[in-house]
Amino acid sequence: MHVDPTNDPVANAAKLIDTAASDHALRPSIAGFFDEATNTVSYVVHDPVSMEAAIIDSVLDYEAASGRTSFGSAERIIEYVTSKNLKVTWLIETHAHADHLSAAPFLQEELGGKLAIGEGIIRVQEVFGKLFNAGSDFERDGSQFDHLFTDGETFRLGELEGIALHVPGHTPADMAYIIGDAAFVGDTIFMPDFGTARADFPGGDARQLFQSIRRLLSLPRETRLFLCHDYKAPGRDDYAWETTVGQQRDANVHVRDGVSEDEFVAMRTERDRVLAMPNLIMPSVQVNIRGGRLPEPEDNGVSYIKIPVNAV
Ligand SMILES: [Fe+2]
Repeated sequence: MHVDPTNDPVANAAKLIDTAASDHALRPSIAGFFDEATNTVSYVVHDPVSMEAAIIDSVLDYEAASGRTSFGSAERIIEYVTSKNLKVTWLIETHAHADHLSAAPFLQEELGGKLAIGEGIIRVQEVFGKLFNAGSDFERDGSQFDHLFTDGETFRLGELEGIALHVPGHTPADMAYIIGDAAFVGDTIFMPDFGTARADFPGGDARQLFQSIRRLLSLPRETRLFLCHDYKAPGRDDYAWETTVGQQRDANVHVRDGVSEDEFVAMRTERDRVLAMPNLIMPSVQVNIRGGRLPEPEDNGVSYIKIPVNAV
């Protein structure tokens, strides 16, 4: 499939998905790893021909009370990658997460691959660099990552083609990644019975989120959507993280076809007002804006996580 650079990125993504949906060789193999502590799903996506793999939204385990990190979640991924003999070429973040720490640098050391996020991370680094009063040694240019994706940019995973789409709203940096017939949509939309991501973090915007979601829902109905989180939903006892564009358009409780932008914005704003901040927002943000690395150790060799009091 040849991407036409003059085309709209979504039109190019739709073409890519249509091509892959009709040809099994162009469909990626996907394994989801659910972290119950943070309700996060990490993915290992691979090209079954070349066995090249991308790891999307990995989790570094963190116990807030003791300030200890551990690697159980990351090790499950390493085991899977090793058992399948995969060659990791990408470590991709959909955004700077506020509810879990990224294990990308640890996985990069163990497995290789390029660490990537959307170019909007620079704005997120500016906002949180200020909030946490980070020193001038904290670079706010995205240089902690090996690659910054732009809207509509194409990339390869072995024989498979990918397209990055900018889908801001939850945060300014959110990206969705289309690989073959699958879309990794990060924190935009959740399972149809749960709805959508919150839009009240610094730099978040409910109107933008609606527009980003409608952009994703204009992809072909059969597009496989892989979500970043699941929290179950009333009447559902199992975690789930895969759905389709068609299912979302028919049934999403927040943004199914027919819900207007104003209705969505009113609902989202109302709902976000009563949501508590995620337990791990302070450590997550400080680590994830650094590409998943702890803040520079102080002169005693220890890294510290700060808490801005009465500032958020
Ligand atoms: Fe998030």
